[in-house]
Amino acid sequence: MIEFTQTDAPRDAMVLFFGVGVDGFGSVGYYYWEEENDFIRYAVPVDAKEPTDSDITIKGWVRTIRKQKTLAFAQVNDGSNLGGIQCVLNFDQLDEASQAAIDQVTTGCAVQITGPLVPSQGGQQAVEVAAKTLRVVGLCPADTYPLAKKRHSLEYLRSIAHLRPRTNTIAAVARVRSQLAAAIHSFFQSQNFVYVQTPLITASDCEGAGELFRVTTLDLEQELPRLNNTDRTVDYSQDFFGKPAFLTVSGQLGGETHACALGDIYTFGPTFRAENSQTTRHLAEFHMVEPEMAFADLQTAMENAEQLLKYTVSHVLKNCQEDLTFFSSFYDKELLDRLQKLVDQPFARVSYREAIAYLQEEIAKDPSKWQYPHVEFGTDLATEHERWLAETKFESCVFVYNYPAAIKAFYMRANDEDNGETVNAMDLLVPGVGELVGGSQREERLDVLEQKLRDNNLNLDDYWWYLDLRRYGSVPHAGYGLGFERLVQYVTGIENIREAIAFPRYPGNAEF
Ligand code: 4AD
Repeated sequence: MIEFTQTDAPRDAMVLFFGVGVDGFGSVGYYYWEEENDFIRYAVPVDAKEPTDSDITIKGWVRTIRKQKTLAFAQVNDGSNLGGIQCVLNFDQLDEASQAAIDQVTTGCAVQITGPLVPSQGGQQAVEVAAKTLRVVGLCPADTYPLAKKRHSLEYLRSIAHLRPRTNTIAAVARVRSQLAAAIHSFFQSQNFVYVQTPLITASDCEGAGELFRVTTLDLEQELPRLNNTDRTVDYSQDFFGKPAFLTVSGQLGGETHACALGDIYTFGPTFRAENSQTTRHLAEFHMVEPEMAFADLQTAMENAEQLLKYTVSHVLKNCQEDLTFFSSFYDKELLDRLQKLVDQPFARVSYREAIAYLQEEIAKDPSKWQYPHVEFGTDLATEHERWLAETKFESCVFVYNYPAAIKAFYMRANDEDNGETVNAMDLLVPGVGELVGGSQREERLDVLEQKLRDNNLNLDDYWWYLDLRRYGSVPHAGYGLGFERLVQYVTGIENIREAIAFPRYPGNAEF
């Protein structure tokens, strides 16, 4: 229950208070330091939930307030945990200014409350604050505050995305998301992967799917400069970058340049796709974790992805118990078992050809149950197919590998054994979400790659630097992209990816 304004306590900080469990789970507690400056606080988590002799100060937002004649109960939450803390405002024990302030306390207002922690008289919490002083830091007019005490639908909360972090669900998602990000960095750093930031503005379409947002400073309100050719195409030499530029769909191509110099690298940043998908799994702006490994093949990439997921999920199981228990109670009863299973069980592996055969066999039993019953070699698997494989056929995370070249990106390495009909690619399918990871071994042979660019109607000149990697000291290398919001979705069990990110962007929505 504390505001983190700095990460380390100063050596000469005064220890004011030690230990508190405020959440009924007994797992949260802090050392508190206080400095002269009223707004600097330091905290170190500890395992304790004891009353205190000295006073502590709680700063946060009032979730609920119950007022009686000479007593008021305020549930205050500062975002550090789910439950917040109950503050008992006994009028007799408050100074005059604090007594007067009680009238101003409403749901949503910001308060600072000081007093000792005492054993709780009732309710779920072990301890509560016996308030001595109350300061209303920020008023919150009850008549217009959009977050009433009742439960709101997630759809409604999206329309007030600037206030929704004050709800249990969205605050818990934010905490789990933060822990997942930390675990991802710690996994790669512990294995000496170099963290590389690749550009967001790019001239190349990594996936070759044409789902790019254009970046331009040309004035779209005015007549655009045109070339004097028959099509009168736009003259991008007059644009900011002197050529067409876009927001990146993936950091992979840039990542490859560094893997082919530093060995193992990873990127972790925003990516953008202008695909018109109004699904529960797609965002127009999302974050991707993209490791790239030199002297590596598809097997290495699959093993690394499996280890990464086991590591990150173990981390949140250990560090986000309270929030995960909340998601399991309110969103997905199977959640904790599913996550534990991911950690404990080896992931299944199946070739694309085998997966198609399994699907054909299953669909033949009752084609009417399927939205897309026609499945054959060359079919781009739909979510219902992916989920059946993970949830029913294998009942676990499953890598599908060796996809048809025709449905995959140009940079994937052709499989020699079947005349390049398939590529060395993999997707990881997980129960509940479907595709979580997509990756491949990269085509490292210059002539094969050039031909694949041509086959995909891509301009070789645009990829001159990417081709240079194959000209100069080319090595087998492989990598993958993990959709970070899909991971958040998987780990929290929330149904729609729009709750997995602070401000979701999707067709028709760029508010906030
Ligand atoms: O399979 P994708 O398209 O792979 C790539 O972009 C490769 N360049 C990655 C690489 O090999 N370095 O995307 C990777 C993952 C998907 O498996 C999915 O989890 C996520 O990114 N993803 C999306 N997440 C949210 N919204 C979207 N529109 C997404 N598109 C892909």
